[in-house]
Amino acid sequence: METRLLLPTKENIELTAQALANGQLAAIPTETVYGLAANALDGDAVRKIFEAKGRPMDNPLIVHVSDLASVKNMELVSEIPPKAVKLAEKFWPGPLTIIMPKGKAIPNEVSAGLETVAIRFPSHPVTRALISAAGVPLAAPSANTSGSPSPTSAAHVMHDMSGKIPYIIDGGICEVGVESTVVTTVSDTPMLLRPGGITLEQLREAVGEVDVSEAVLFKLKEGQKAESPGMKYKHYAPKANLILIKSDDEKYIEYVNSRKNDNVGALCYDEDEENLSVKTFPFGKKNDFENQANRLFDALRSIDETNLTTVYGRCPETYGTGMAVYNRLIRAAGFEVIELA
Ligand code: TXA
Ligand code: MG
Repeated sequence: METRLLLPTKENIELTAQALANGQLAAIPTETVYGLAANALDGDAVRKIFEAKGRPMDNPLIVHVSDLASVKNMELVSEIPPKAVKLAEKFWPGPLTIIMPKGKAIPNEVSAGLETVAIRFPSHPVTRALISAAGVPLAAPSANTSGSPSPTSAAHVMHDMSGKIPYIIDGGICEVGVESTVVTTVSDTPMLLRPGGITLEQLREAVGEVDVSEAVLFKLKEGQKAESPGMKYKHYAPKANLILIKSDDEKYIEYVNSRKNDNVGALCYDEDEENLSVKTFPFGKKNDFENQANRLFDALRSIDETNLTTVYGRCPETYGTGMAVYNRLIRAAGFEVIELA
């Protein structure tokens, strides 16, 4: 199949929206990462997403809407819990996904057989225009091959999806750079399932108590249940062995430089670069977590363009947007962390 890379002109949005409404796939830009979209009300169309990504069928998808009213009117959910209303009023449109009880219109392919459904109202003008023009909600996981870092540019999507899907809309570099925050409002106390652009601190400020799923910061034990199916899969890992180093700046630099050889690299902060004597992959400024989120996936992908065998990474902070960066990096590293005293 030929994959067409399209700019988001009015005509191209109309063309792609029609293709989506007719059951075809398209990769679309959002403010978080690129999504691989299909008509969320069409189970056969949604099935194609799983094929193109090589995604396990038991991992449910997020349904994207372009207004709040259609969540209820289109029977995407059976009810909007009071705390979901609060969160939606505060953070939509934006990088927040809210899990609610599933409505009649949601095919099993989308919810992977669960009684709940994930809903997001994105802020990106192109995403919103596409959903409106298609006239249907769009189911869309990140547009990467299953297991790879999520795409934050059209070139990333092309790399993973060329020949597998008919359309990619090029909306430039994604602003947030990590996937949306996922919170469930099905439990009495809301629970954070995946950290993202909306922070835990912001969620708590909006609705009070919010629990954090253990899988956000820790490795699940054998047989332990993941509240969010996606958290149980290996994710984001480069081919090289990535090891996180928890230490201050000086010890990190000393540790990496003392292991210098042609096969070693460093996934470092911008400030570390000039002091390192190995190949570097800077992923952001040390104290700017939004900048790290914005650049992390591109840095991880560029490691795969080399033949390095070992990469030593900085271990991010776990508060604010740092939690989202940590959550992705710890998975990319297979939870391997060396702590230097
Ligand atoms: O920013 C984003 O969220 C991007 C853009 C395209 O919107 N989408 C995205 O989708 O990251 P995906 O499929 O890569 O991640 C969705 C996550 C998965 O971890 C999945 O297991 C979880 O949300 N999820 C979806 N439905 C769920 C449900 N009903 N209950 C619990 N977790 C759910
Ligand atoms: Mg994904």
